[in-house]
This record gives sequence, C-alpha cells and structure tokens, in this order.
Amino acid sequence: MPTTVTLLATSAMGLESIVANEVKALGYEDVQVENGKVIFKADVQAIPRCNLWLRTADRLKVIIGEFEATTFDELFEQTKALAWHEYIPEDGSFPVTGKSVKSKLYSVPDCQSIVKKAIVEKLKQKHGVASRMPESGALYKVEIALLKDKATLTIDTSGAGLHKRGYRIGQGEAPLKETLAAALVQLTNWKPDYPLVDVFCGSGTILIEAAFIGQNIAPGFNRSFASEEWAWIGDKRWAQAFDEAESLANYDQALDITGSDIDPKMIEIAKNNAMEAGLADLIQWKQMQATDFQPKVPNGYIISNPPYGERIGDKKQVEALYEALGETMRLHPSWSVYVLTSNEKFESLYGAKATKRRKLFNGFIKVDYYQYFGKHEKKGES
Ligand SMILES: C[S@@+](CC[C@H](N)C(=O)[O-])C[C@H]1O[C@@H](n2cnc3c(N)ncnc32)[C@H](O)[C@@H]1O
Repeated sequence: MPTTVTLLATSAMGLESIVANEVKALGYEDVQVENGKVIFKADVQAIPRCNLWLRTADRLKVIIGEFEATTFDELFEQTKALAWHEYIPEDGSFPVTGKSVKSKLYSVPDCQSIVKKAIVEKLKQKHGVASRMPESGALYKVEIALLKDKATLTIDTSGAGLHKRGYRIGQGEAPLKETLAAALVQLTNWKPDYPLVDVFCGSGTILIEAAFIGQNIAPGFNRSFASEEWAWIGDKRWAQAFDEAESLANYDQALDITGSDIDPKMIEIAKNNAMEAGLADLIQWKQMQATDFQPKVPNGYIISNPPYGERIGDKKQVEALYEALGETMRLHPSWSVYVLTSNEKFESLYGAKATKRRKLFNGFIKVDYYQYFGKHEKKGES
C-alpha cells in the first residue's frame, strides 16, 4: 500500500498559479506548475484533503508513473513495470482513457488497449488471478496521457469533476464554472467583513463560492468522491478529512453578500442553489436592473460576470450597461469592481483603465478579468 503519492491537480488554462497557491496553503511543498497541471508529493491523507478543499482545481489524480515511450513495446513494458497492484485491488474496475499530443504514439485507442493489457497482466501476476479480472469493485479510472513522447499514467481520485460541488440544482444560459467563480473571488482583495455584490448574479455561482470562502467551508463538503471507495485510502482518512473540514468551518462569520439580476427566474434559481449549498439566509437576493444599483455603504466589492454581448443584436445594449456601471461606480471610489468579459473595449466603455487585467478562459471564450481597486475609506471618513 502506498504511503506517499505524487498528485496531479488538473487546472483550467490560466488558473494554475491559483491552484498551486491553494495546494501550498493546505501545507504541501515542492509544488511544480506546468500548463494545466499542478504536481506535488504528499502523504495519502492529501487525497481526501485536496479533494475536499481545492476550490479551483478540476480534478485530483495520482501519478502512477512517467516515462518516455516512442514504440508500443516501450509503452507496454514500462506500463507493466509500474506498481499497479499497490493501487488497484483484485476486483477493481479500471477503464483506460487516453490522449496524445505531439507524440509518435498518436493512435489513442491503440495506446489505451496496450495500457489496459499491461495493467491486466501485472494485476493477474501480483494478485494471483488465473482467469479474467472480475472488475466488479470500486472504480479506478486510468489515463494514459502522451505529451511530446512522455507518457504519464494516472488514476483519477475525484470521480465527478471538482466543480460539481452538489449545490447547482438550476442554472441559466451561461453559468460560470464553480472553479472559475472561486478563482475570480480569490483574485480579489475581498475579505468576509466587506460588502460584496454581484449585479449580474445569474444562478449565483460567484456569491455562493464567495460565501464558502468567507466562512471557510470546504467546497467538496456536500459531495462524494471516487476514492472514498478505495481500501488503501480507507474510511478513517476520509472521516478525518471531513472532521477537519467541519472543525475549520466558521459558520459564525457574518457576511454582507447581495446578488441581483434583471431576470426573476434567475433570482429564484440562485436562491434555490444557495439553499442547497446550506447558505439559505446568508446571501440576499433581489430582482433588479444592474443600472439601478447604488452603493449605500463604503468599501464594498462588485464581482460580476455580465453578459458579453456576443450575440448579434445584444452588443449595443450590453455596451450601454458597461457605460452605466462605470458612471455609477466612478462616484464611489472606495468600491472595488471586478468584471469578467470578452469585450475588448470594456475599459473605454467603463470609462477607466483597470488597475490590473488578467487573461482567462471562460470555457473556450477568451476573456479578461478587469480589476479596479477601490481606495478604502477609514471609518467615519466619508
Ligand atoms: C453571464 S450571466 C451570469 C451567470 C452567472 N455568473 C452564473 O454563474 O450563473 C449574465 C446575467 O446577467 C443578467 N442580466 C442581463 N442584463 C441585465 C441587466 N440589465 N441588469 C441585471 N442583470 C442583467 C442575465 O439575466 C444573466 O443572468
């Protein structure tokens, strides 16, 4: 049974450094960052902990081995040489998926079946199975990923992607992925004692993720993970991770979080999602036109993912919204404003150059995260 593991947290393009910071904040060192990947060595307890706590990673995988392979023979022999039996028990089910980028072994179906055969041979030998492997037990999803002739063999520990927190029972047309929403919040200077508003809240993702962050609630607390079924991790480690998450949650942290949207149906959906997330009374929701928003207190934060106006006909309307938001917020310099949009003219429409801009992807759409830092007022100053 493994006592230490090499873990791979996969990440959306552009979010790697945020995932790496989260991994470090959980106490793991020697963190290596590559395109779409964060790799680190850890004890086995890191598997439950990282699955429960990582807010911005897509999945957590265990790396079983890495090697150069340019022929099917090399792929077979080196795969077979790995210690699969330490991870996959006699009855484990182990489907193999694959991908190949810039590699001599480009036929993914062939690579998958060679890897499958090599694992079957190794497991039969080590578990002493003479007939067919039963594959009737827990799931160990194997992946063979080839990049420039380097093969990386992993087993997925998460099951459903980590963005599936379990609270999204409804959504609108263009919901943000929960992992990206959490990243947007973590890229701000917002602290739980400041007001936070999303004036284009849709199904409420940004604010629900912010409330989790504000109360230090583990995002995976209400879901299950594939590796909960793995004997070599064991119920005790999982129970310990869930207990730790429960004890670190700060349900007493007061929050001043408000979501508004022009569409009453979205407000209904956001309310239900927040309730499902266990945040029923923590977030205020109201149906409102974004241009009617007026800050009532100083030092607040807006974090929003407005419509982008990419559909013909919507553009003018959306650009007028950006202009109106700029006009309002110019009168409230203590507020910080963070907007994610694909509209390249955002700064000129809003009427100010952003303090900072960060390139991100919303799914496949290239977007910028425009960040306007407010000048906080001291108490009694206004
Ligand atoms: C891209 S979606 C936001 C999605 C949200 N982040 C989520 O995760 O569900 C944009 C939202 O802006 C709302 N909206 C469009 N025009 C608006 C306006 N003038 N005032 C307020 N909300 C508006 C839409 O109803 C939609 O829900």
